[in-house]
Amino acid sequence: MYLEQKGCVLNLKYENKIMTKPVLFNGGEVHRSVYLDEEIFSEEQEKIFSKSWLYLCHASQIPNSGDYFTTEIASQPLVAIRQSSGEVKVLYNRCPHKGVKVLSEKSGNCGRFLRCPYHAWTFRTSGELLSIPVKKEYESCTFANCEANAGMKLVACVQNYRDFIFIRLSESGLPFDIFFGNSLSTLDNMVERSPYGKLRIVGKALRHRHRCNWKMVMDNQTDTCHPMVAHESSAGEAIKLWSETQEGQAKPPMVVELFSPFMSSHAFFADMGIRIWPNGHGHTGVSNSIHSDYSEISGYWESMIETYGEARTKQILGDTRHNTVYFPNLMVKGPIQSLRVIRPISASETVVESWIFELEGAPKEMLERTVQYNNLINSPCSMVAHDDVEMYERAMEGLKSQASLWVNIARLYQPGESWEETKETVGTSEIAMRNFYSMWQSMMEEENA
Ligand SMILES: [Fe+2]
Repeated sequence: MYLEQKGCVLNLKYENKIMTKPVLFNGGEVHRSVYLDEEIFSEEQEKIFSKSWLYLCHASQIPNSGDYFTTEIASQPLVAIRQSSGEVKVLYNRCPHKGVKVLSEKSGNCGRFLRCPYHAWTFRTSGELLSIPVKKEYESCTFANCEANAGMKLVACVQNYRDFIFIRLSESGLPFDIFFGNSLSTLDNMVERSPYGKLRIVGKALRHRHRCNWKMVMDNQTDTCHPMVAHESSAGEAIKLWSETQEGQAKPPMVVELFSPFMSSHAFFADMGIRIWPNGHGHTGVSNSIHSDYSEISGYWESMIETYGEARTKQILGDTRHNTVYFPNLMVKGPIQSLRVIRPISASETVVESWIFELEGAPKEMLERTVQYNNLINSPCSMVAHDDVEMYERAMEGLKSQASLWVNIARLYQPGESWEETKETVGTSEIAMRNFYSMWQSMMEEENA
């Protein structure tokens, strides 16, 4: 109905086909309501965020029995808890008695059981109801048949993939391996960059609130034609200043090394390539990327060879993927060991969480580079992030215009593009965005069971 209200063409002729139902994505264009409409946003929560595999946290955040991490996904308060068996379980963070959030801190250790602060109902870390004050008074009533008797509810599906904890709220949906397929190779690569094959999250998330739709941030991750334009005033200026004042110095400092590739040409980004996988995932930087030419850090290469041997080390470190987009709301950067979770708040509000990892067994300078990158590029105090945020906010304003109903993502569009296979093409193609919206559309069109 929202399309009729907003005047969308319902019988759209596209590629000589008459589309007879409302069209939100027509192959090369996305309808503006996809970014603006609160009704579509609510539908996304139900049809996409409850049925997709979503990243929740990293196992290194809850290393010991009783350690927990709380978050909210698709408006659901959740808590991941390490069990005494070592397993990680994910519960709805809600007391079955009166609905109170049992844990209010972001993270901590709950000991051997959870206790609701309202009436002292207690639960095992697996959610099972352990004790209730004045229990006798429940014995003669119908409590045994009540939902509350089952304790804190477990999330339907949890998958620990190499210490990355993913959940799916709904019982129905694609199995984990099918949903992600070969896209998991980006997570594999980040793990293998540790000489011990182990990652550890360092510090807390940098959180940055954007006044825009969450999909604009996702689009940006594989948009290779914006850095040299949108970041000219930040990265471009930093590079210019360095060259004007420090000319002759043999080696630029780390910050300049991290900034410089942002100003690479369209040809550079075209040559680095782009790869897509089924179900909306993809990454930029197939043959090389903006992360390829960082200086060598003393001792790292040697420690990698010790674990993997020279040939395998070359393979691991030679895979310098730029941004890997995991449908619907995760972005991973293997070569700089970071990830970003794009959290939708409303149609016009998004929070971006940036997390960083230490490579266990690697020299400390590797972590220093990761911290530096995160502060420079992803922090709310970053110079670069604000360039993008301004563009998203201006787009939210501009899309209100009646001038056009469509956002264009047709660069290097091939009519009849399909999404069932892994595909590689020119890095400046917007194929990864089209792949994303193809998945988005197919999930939005699914009828509820
Ligand atoms: Fe950007």
